Amino acid sequence: MITNRHVVLKRAPAAMPKAADFEVVSCPMPSGPPPEGLLLRVVALSMDPYLGGRLRGRHMGEPAPAPGGTLPGFAVAEVMESAHPGFKPGEYVVTEAGWTRFAAVPAAGARKVAAGAAPISAHLGVLGMPGLTAWAGVTQLAKVGPGDVFTVDAAAGAVGGTAGQIARNLGARAVGIAGGAAKMELVTGSYGFDACVDYRAEGWQAKLKAACGAGPTVHFENVGQSVLQTVFPMLQNYARIVLCGLAEHYHADGQPPTLPIGPIVGKRAALLGLVVYDFYARLDEWVALALPWIAAGKLMIHEDASEGLESAPAQFERMLKGQHLGKAIVRVGPDRT
Ligand SMILES: NC(=O)c1ccc[n+]([C@@H]2O[C@H](COP(=O)([O-])OP(=O)(O)OC[C@H]3O[C@@H](n4cnc5c(N)ncnc54)[C@H](OP(=O)(O)O)[C@@H]3O)[C@@H](O)[C@H]2O)c1
Repeated sequence: MITNRHVVLKRAPAAMPKAADFEVVSCPMPSGPPPEGLLLRVVALSMDPYLGGRLRGRHMGEPAPAPGGTLPGFAVAEVMESAHPGFKPGEYVVTEAGWTRFAAVPAAGARKVAAGAAPISAHLGVLGMPGLTAWAGVTQLAKVGPGDVFTVDAAAGAVGGTAGQIARNLGARAVGIAGGAAKMELVTGSYGFDACVDYRAEGWQAKLKAACGAGPTVHFENVGQSVLQTVFPMLQNYARIVLCGLAEHYHADGQPPTLPIGPIVGKRAALLGLVVYDFYARLDEWVALALPWIAAGKLMIHEDASEGLESAPAQFERMLKGQHLGKAIVRVGPDRT
């Protein structure tokens, strides 16, 4: 007999969510797809930083989920039954299925995906929302091209790692900022950035300056004030700064981040706020660019996967603490692609 399980919040987290805030419990197996909807078997869950804020009611005005309900979140899943003419059993989709083994969802939010040059789970990372974020920031907002010096922090992660690889593929010099030796190795060894500095090491600011020559012309920010205040004085005039994420501030109490306004004026810098939702309609454009790069070894995918739905709470805590390497996911069921 097939049994279902899901992950629920035990209590509303008061600070950064921890594994102990969650529990994995049995729940009814959906009897079938909802009208015009899909019955899904989840293959992999996406662990994303925004979810930490969402669970505390701090993401784009969305309410915090109540304790006891299935946790929200994107997943790649196999269609078991379909009540929608656009989907067939055996096809794969990305949708907000939540942290569960089996889900009955509306077809409206589901996007069909296929394995090919990349594993199906890559549609949660490089070929999904994080990759689209990187593409939007690098190509649509900052319009990176040959001659640019491109810096990005959280450079081992799904967004930062993809952003740097795109910039490099478009002719820029890509310089990463990341925490620790393993991430440095991933960024330069596998992703092929031109350089990477470890911001946890003594003297990293001087190393970053040296790696950037005349200075960054484009900076892609994923972390927050501690990096911005170092990078701003190094920028070349007319630099473009993509403000994508503030990972170090999501769960910090105290003052909100501030920006050094003086250098922004002096450098004639452009601040470009990025929200990926604006670009979802163009996901196919990014995927069409990315697939040949993946096939040619010019866009590398690195996943940090934990095994089984039961591992989701601990994997989520690791991800929020930045202890993962690459795109954090949870493998829930077999990938039969
Ligand atoms: N604007 C948008 O529409 C949009 C869309 C998607 C993602 N984002 C943002 O893009 C950024 C990267 O996303 P991602 O999914 O690729 O995540 P990720 O890079 O895999 O994980 C976040 C990274 O932030 C770094 N970090 C620095 N200080 C931290 C702290 N105090 N706590 C936790 N992490 C810290 C860590 O890398 P190091 O150890 O290397 O510092 C950590 O691995 C996040 O800020 C995310 O919210 C924005």
